[in-house]
Amino acid sequence: MITERGGILDKTRVRPIRHLMNPLDFTVDELEKLFDLAGDIEREPAKYAKVCEGKKLATCFYEPSTRTRLSFEAAMLNLGGEVLGFSEASSSSAAKGESVSDTIRVISCYADICAMRHPKEGAAYVAASKSLIPVINAGDGGHQHPTQTLTDLLTIRSLRGSLSGFTIGLCGDLKFGRTVHSLINALTRYSDVRFIFISPEELKVPDYITDMLDEKGIGYEEVISLEDVIDKLDILYMTRVQRERFFNEEDYVRLKDFYILTKDKLDKAKSDMMVLHPLPRVNEISVEIDDDPRAAYFKQAQYGVYVRMALILTLLGMEPV
Ligand code: NCD
Repeated sequence: MITERGGILDKTRVRPIRHLMNPLDFTVDELEKLFDLAGDIEREPAKYAKVCEGKKLATCFYEPSTRTRLSFEAAMLNLGGEVLGFSEASSSSAAKGESVSDTIRVISCYADICAMRHPKEGAAYVAASKSLIPVINAGDGGHQHPTQTLTDLLTIRSLRGSLSGFTIGLCGDLKFGRTVHSLINALTRYSDVRFIFISPEELKVPDYITDMLDEKGIGYEEVISLEDVIDKLDILYMTRVQRERFFNEEDYVRLKDFYILTKDKLDKAKSDMMVLHPLPRVNEISVEIDDDPRAAYFKQAQYGVYVRMALILTLLGMEPV
């Protein structure tokens, strides 16, 4: 009988297919379980080294990426599984005009789970609606980047011990930075989180985000100067100016070095403030800061692998119960 997998009836599939499009797709309790699992993976990686033997992850990247694609691949390899995929649209059938819907139907025949990045907002949602395997949104245009948010939340939880009760400053390109949009969304579910948005006028956080905060009655400050607020912050989330989403190069050149976190500026911050960055960094954090104990962005990249391992296990229904 020809079935949903295009092959022999898969009687073992008892769970509905679950995707990750938005960090809010998981409840706060589910996220706690995911982070606990990521913590266990960090402590005892050997326990998980073979759990995905025989499983395949497809990475379908229509837009450049280093750490997201490689961290997904590292996550699956660490679990004993295998990976296949493409890293640019030009090397996929998209170059021949194939739709995302058709591509995912085909990938569903080759792999057990798929991580997709696409320059168009909503592309991963289209894929999920046609997919026969779990789809993970690995970034859709300037919209959402849920696995970076899981990474950010796990980093904060692991290094601070809690996801509540802090002031976070988000600095840089708050207009086009999808990691910022996803993270703000996710943090609104925790108590006593205070937001300070630090950006030039042209790169302010979009209205749909501030409208959402207003509706929920969550306060925020919008400022231009990082120096004026740095001493109030428990977490500083730096971002790069998203050159690829600008309409003209002149605006990019004018704004790209608006913020540069230097040692002098960091001297004014709390001694335990945490500096995060989704990476890649361009100029916005001076390399002289990398050895400061407050610089947590490389640790953050490591947490990204643990959380993606936990996510793959969870979406495949292979997490320990
Ligand atoms: C981010 C992205 O792709 O949005 N990178 C990443 O996945 N860690 C941030 C960025 O590109 O600036």
